[in-house]
Amino acid sequence: MTGVQPMPAADRLYAERVNPQWVRLLNLLEMNVRYERCVGAELFTSDGRRILDFLSGYCVHNAGHNHPRIIASLKEELDRCGPAMLQSHAPELAARLAYHLTQRAGGRLRRAVFCSSGSEGVETAIKFARAYTRRSKLLYAQGAFHGLTCGALSLMSNPFWTEGFGPMLPGATGVPFGSVQALEDCLATRQFAAFIVEPIQAEGGIQVPPPGYLQTAQQLCRRYGTVFVLDEVQTGMYRTGPFLAAHHFGLDPDIVILAKALSGGLVPVGAVLTTEAIANAVYASLKRALVHASTYGENGLAMRAGLAALEVMEAESLGPRAETLGSQLRKQLRETLAPYELVKEVRGMGMLSGIEFTAPRRLSLRAAYEGFDRLHPAMFSQVLVMHLFRNHDILTQACGNNFKVLKVAPPLVVSQDHLAHFVASIHETIAFASTSPRFWSEALRMARRATNI
Ligand SMILES: Cc1ncc(COP(=O)(O)O)c(C=O)c1O
Repeated sequence: MTGVQPMPAADRLYAERVNPQWVRLLNLLEMNVRYERCVGAELFTSDGRRILDFLSGYCVHNAGHNHPRIIASLKEELDRCGPAMLQSHAPELAARLAYHLTQRAGGRLRRAVFCSSGSEGVETAIKFARAYTRRSKLLYAQGAFHGLTCGALSLMSNPFWTEGFGPMLPGATGVPFGSVQALEDCLATRQFAAFIVEPIQAEGGIQVPPPGYLQTAQQLCRRYGTVFVLDEVQTGMYRTGPFLAAHHFGLDPDIVILAKALSGGLVPVGAVLTTEAIANAVYASLKRALVHASTYGENGLAMRAGLAALEVMEAESLGPRAETLGSQLRKQLRETLAPYELVKEVRGMGMLSGIEFTAPRRLSLRAAYEGFDRLHPAMFSQVLVMHLFRNHDILTQACGNNFKVLKVAPPLVVSQDHLAHFVASIHETIAFASTSPRFWSEALRMARRATNI
C-alpha cells in the first residue's frame, strides 16, 4: 500500500494543520489536556482528572456545559427536519427568540438582528448607528474588548490586538472608561455615530464603572445625538444577576449586543437588540429589506438553543443565583486574601469577578514580582493560572487586556463546594507565592522555556 500515512496524534495534527503556536503555549502552561466530557461546571479529562471551569469559555457557559434540556431541544430541532437557511422565509423561531429577548431587555429595545458571533454583533451595531445618525465616527472606552474583526478591533486601544492588521476604521476614538468629561468633549462635536461600551469591562480587568458613569454617558449620548450601545457579550444573559448588566444601572440603551451564552454554549450565535427607529433606518424600504443580513444568523439550531437557554436559566433562577453566590464569593475572597500584599483588590458583579494583583511592599517579594513583570507582564498571572490548573484542577485565565487581573467566571450552575474549593485553592497559591521562593523559581523556568521553544 502506498500513500496511507498513520494519523498523527490529535494535538500534533492540530499543530500541523490549525495553530502550532497555540499548542506550544498550552504545552508551556502544562494545560494541554484532552477533555472528554464536560457537564455543568466540571470538565473530565482522558487521564481521569476532574477540572473545575472558572472561565466558562469567556462567559459562554452560563447555563453550564452541555445542559441536557438545551441538548434535547437541539436534537428535537434536528429531528424535525424543519426549514433552515432558506433565505426566503420569515423563520418562526427567530421571531420567537426576538420577542423573548426584547421583552426581557425592555425599554426601547423592540427589534432583534441575529448573527453568529459577538464581533459580528459589534459590526452590526456600527453599521446601524451610522445608518441612523448619518455620522461616521465611533467612540469607545479604552481597555475595551469588542472582538477581532476589523470594525470591532478599531474600538480597542490595546495595540497587541491591532498591530499588523491595520489600517483600522478611520474616526474611531478611545476615551478613558469612567471619564465623563472626556466623553462629553468628544460627543459635543456631534460627529460621533455611536458610543460603544461594555457596562463592566471584562477583558479590561473586570472594571466596574464609577457610580453614575453609565447613566451620565447615556444622557450625554441622547443630548448630542449619538447612539448609546452596550456590548453585553460577556455581561448579558444573567451573568451579573439581571438579564442585562444594564438593568443594574437602570439604563435604557439604544442598542445591546448579545452573543456567547445566548445559545447555551452549543451553537454560534449573536443578537443585536435595537430600537424601531434605528432598525427602520437600515431596513428603510422594500429595496433595502435585506441590506443587512447574515447567512447563518437566524438558523434554527441557534434560535432553538437560544430559546432553550433562556428557559433553563430562568427555570433554574440562574440570575439570582449569580447575584447571591457571586457576592458571597467576593466576600470570602476578600477575607481570605486580605493578609497578602500581592492582592490589590477583589471586585465584580454577579458571577463575574476579578482578583487584581500588585507589586508587594516587602522588598524581596517586590523584586521578584517586578522582575517577572519586566520579563513579560503576563508572567505572574500565567504562573498562577498554571498552578491553579496543575495543582488544584481549576481552569482560569487572566483578563486579555489586563494581565494583572485573574478572571473568576464559573458557569452560573457552579456549586457552593466548587466555590469553596476555588477560595481554598487561590488562597494556597497566593500564600505559596508570598512565602516560597519555589513559586518564583518555577516562574523563572517557565520564562526560560518560553524563550527557548
Ligand atoms: C465584550 C465582548 N464583545 C465582543 C466579543 C467578541 O465576541 P466573539 O468572539 O463571539 O466574536 C467578546 C469576546 O470575547 C467580548 O468579550
